[in-house]
Amino acid sequence: MKGIQKIGLFDSGLGGLTVLQALEQRLPGVPKIYYGDTLHLPYGDKSDAAIISYSTKIVSFLASEGCDLIVVACNSASAAAGKVLEAEFPGLVFINVIDPVVAALASGPHEKVGLLGTRATVRSGAYPTKLAALNPSVELCALATPLLVPLIEDGFLGTGIETQVLKHYLDDKVLDGVQALVPGCTHYPLLEQAAAALLEGVDWIDAPALVAEAVAVECGSSSADAEVETTFYLSDKTPSFMELATKTFGIKAQWNTKVLD
Ligand code: DGL
Repeated sequence: MKGIQKIGLFDSGLGGLTVLQALEQRLPGVPKIYYGDTLHLPYGDKSDAAIISYSTKIVSFLASEGCDLIVVACNSASAAAGKVLEAEFPGLVFINVIDPVVAALASGPHEKVGLLGTRATVRSGAYPTKLAALNPSVELCALATPLLVPLIEDGFLGTGIETQVLKHYLDDKVLDGVQALVPGCTHYPLLEQAAAALLEGVDWIDAPALVAEAVAVECGSSSADAEVETTFYLSDKTPSFMELATKTFGIKAQWNTKVLD
């Protein structure tokens, strides 16, 4: 490793666990801390100022716990707070969840790509702006899909209701003719199965794998031999969240409560 001791990841809730899962596969030997800011969920409907304030406190906490590489495992926070965090914490290495995906799209085979995201992510224009800077010939059409996060956090995965809501969004004219779809919110990779049933001939971008690869490149090694434990924190620990984390991700570890003021 290039001296990376511990990786800190954060999201508003469950979503960042899709990135953690990919990271645990890619870099099982690096210690990790996950922080879910359930007290402030959803981030996607908050102002940039609020998202920046939450993110700054979380990064401060993760740094105080010894994390030297931070994965902003939330598109809304990456879009709203990414640059501020990098300026505020020059001693830390940051990987956001937007840049690795944009880099893959810029060099990929698709000419027209759809993006599903939160209101904050779509409002920021981060994906189209960054993509245009790398490869202006790839067209990106973004659609805000705010109902999807509450559906996932409320345990509607696998009920069929998530498929109906997803279908409603995928029928939007904005997405006509896209050849690939980006789950531009870290909760959305959990909708891959539902999306596969609705999308024909449209590639689903594996965003968590792309982010994990970018982290691995930064760490400068493949994986260490031994698997180390991940520590979990929530700003608000509810039985329903922990039940869902166990059901969806098989997480059996203890969740600690840490409110950040
Ligand atoms: N999972 C997050 C994202 O990638 C945040 C979702 C939310 O809290 O609205 O944007």
